[in-house]
Order: sequence, then C-alpha cells, then structure tokens
Amino acid sequence: MSILEKIKTEASKLQKNIVLPEGEDGRVVKASAEAANTGLAVVTLLGDEQAIKAANPDVDLKKVNIVNPITNEKTVFYAEMLYKAREGKINKKTGLPEYATVEDAKKAILKDYTMYGALMLKAGDVDGLVSGACHSTANTLRPGLQVIKTAPGIDTVSSCFIMIADRENEYNPDGVAVFADCAINIEPDAKQLADIAISSAESAKSIAGIEPRVAMLSFSTKGSGNDDKYFKSVPKMQEATALAKEMAPDLKLDGEFQFDAAVSEKVGKLKAPDSPVAGKANVFIFPNINAGNIGYKIAQRFGGYMALGPICQGFAKPINDLSRGCSADDVVAVIAITALQAK
Ligand SMILES: CC(C)(COP(=O)(O)OP(=O)(O)OC[C@H]1O[C@@H](n2cnc3c(N)ncnc32)[C@H](O)[C@@H]1OP(=O)(O)O)[C@@H](O)C(=O)NCCC(=O)NCCS
Repeated sequence: MSILEKIKTEASKLQKNIVLPEGEDGRVVKASAEAANTGLAVVTLLGDEQAIKAANPDVDLKKVNIVNPITNEKTVFYAEMLYKAREGKINKKTGLPEYATVEDAKKAILKDYTMYGALMLKAGDVDGLVSGACHSTANTLRPGLQVIKTAPGIDTVSSCFIMIADRENEYNPDGVAVFADCAINIEPDAKQLADIAISSAESAKSIAGIEPRVAMLSFSTKGSGNDDKYFKSVPKMQEATALAKEMAPDLKLDGEFQFDAAVSEKVGKLKAPDSPVAGKANVFIFPNINAGNIGYKIAQRFGGYMALGPICQGFAKPINDLSRGCSADDVVAVIAITALQAK
C-alpha cells in the first residue's frame, strides 16, 4: 500500500470534520464530494448551496454539509469571537483597529470565508481547515495565525514536505522522509528552528507514520566549519539543536550535521561517532528557506522523490494551504492529511 493510500485509510477511521471555505472553486467542490462519498472525512463546504449545485451539476453533493455564511444562524457568534480575539489589534495598513465593532467583524467574515472557516475551527464546530485553491498562501494562513494561533509550547507555524521515494535507497530505508521548513519561514532564528524541528517530528509520526530521527542540517558537522564572518548559521543550528533537545528530551534529535553525516552510516560514524541520529536521520531541518526549498526540489527532480506538501504544522488546530495549481485529487489528499493532524 502506498503512503498516500495509508494516509487515506487512517484518515477514514477518524471521521474528522474538515471545512473547505472555497465553495466557488470547482476542484474543491469535486474533492469535497469525493471525500464525503468515499467516507474519507465529514466535509463542510462554505457557500450558497443553490449556486454551488448550479455550477457543478454533475457532482453528487448529497453527503456534503453545505453552510452558507450569509444565512447561518451562528454567523453573529463567529463575528463576536473574531471581535474578541482581535480586540486591541491595529491594522498595519490603516493604523486603525482591525475591527472597531462586532458589525465590522461580521462584514469582514462575510467577505473572507477562510476567516469564517478558521472561526468555525476555533469554535470546535469543525476539526480542520483546507483552503488556498483560489487564494494566496498569505491570505490562507493569516486567519489561522490571527485566531487559531500555535500549539502549546510552539511559537512558530511552519511547513514540511513529506518526501516519498520512488525506489529503494540505502540512505533512506524508510522510503519516506520529512523536509522542513521549505515554504513559510524565510530566515528562522534558533528558537523558530527548534519549533520547526519539534513540529516536523510530530508530522513524521502523525502523517508519514515513521519514528522520527531529526537532523539539524548545516554545511558543518559538529563544529567542523564556521561562517562567523558571514551569516553565523553554524552557531544558530547549534543553538537550535540545544534548544530542541531541552524542549523534547525524549526525541531522537541531533546536529549540526552535513547531509551526508545525517544519512550515511559510514560518514556519520566518522564525523559524529557518539550521535544516536548521525547516519540514520529521516527528518531534516534546513537552516533557512533557501536551503530547504532548493533541497526538496533537488530530491524531487534528481532523486525521484514525490513531494507531498507543503503541509502546515505548529497550529493549535490543523489548517492546510492548497497550491493554486492543485487538482481535485490533490485537494482530497490534503483533506486526508488534515484529518490525521486533527487526531
Ligand atoms: C506566513 C505569512 C503568510 C504571514 O504573513 P503576514 O500576515 O504578513 O504576517 P504578520 O507579520 O502580519 O503577522 C500576522 C500575525 O501572525 C503571526 N505570525 C506571522 N508569522 C507567523 C509564524 N510563522 N508563526 C506564528 N505566528 C506567526 C504574527 O505574530 C501576527 O500575530 P498578531 O497579529 O496576533 O500579532 C508570511 O510570512 C508569508 O507570506 N510567508 C511566506 C509564504 C510564502 O509565500 N511561501 C512561498 C510558498 S512556496
């Protein structure tokens, strides 16, 4: 069974309720029906039922729960929640309060269904949110950052890719690895990197189904190199390693490692003989988005790995961002992943 099939099988057992705010998007509507009809999840789609059905006459939506924010009796309750959650916050562009009144908050959520979905999630009316088929990453993540916030002990929302091998690879016997953060945090500091490492270990367990062994990556292994004159990234990775070990003492995590020291038993033994992770890593934390984004694309194009993601991690409740080029099948896969994160 492929990893994606395993993810779907596990998700089906959980029957989590996932909200998809983009009822105006045909791919999202098709995926909602597929997820509901195959029993993958309970699906809540936002929009006007008649308009959605008229625009998608061939899609069987009987099992999809369609909620229209304009007529939903809980809309005022969600507006009050948003007003309270953001009280005192100033809009950076206008210099004015984000929402001066509950009525303002209501107007805003009737324009921004991703925020509406995030409030349903905050209220516990759904278990996860999937959006971004027709909205930017920033517009998809901002409602979550503003009202869902981060998981206990974690201050940073980040992302990871689940990298799935298409052939046997002596350096990756699990056939699957986790790469982070390749998409959200541009230049994370040591604490943010520690958060990314802990969240990625959680994603490795809950989504990829592997026991995490986390490598904090660098061009240096255990102090073999330094970039003190430039970016000071080696001490940053060393500090991040120490912080992550303090935050999760039972987690198998170590660094800083060059990639070969992290995955090759031979190089690992030579360069970091006492490390429990060297030579055996399956979760890889990159020092910044440049290294991470370039790294995952090399594995994808030269190494034949399939890259599943970016998957958001570190939120108090799961939210995932779709790519605007996604297919209905991609949306179904992200619904399954989000359900596993809601476990
Ligand atoms: C993540 C991102 C969307 C946040 O954008 P933003 O709305 O401008 O963020 P702001 O700085 O205004 O912060 C909004 C809130 O989110 C919080 N926040 C921002 N980034 C955060 C993070 N990574 N983790 C936790 N909280 C975060 C802020 O603290 C702030 O909280 P507050 O309003 O309650 O005080 C933005 O950093 C981004 O676009 N990153 C790159 C994503 C991208 O395009 N990737 C390419 C895809 S491959």
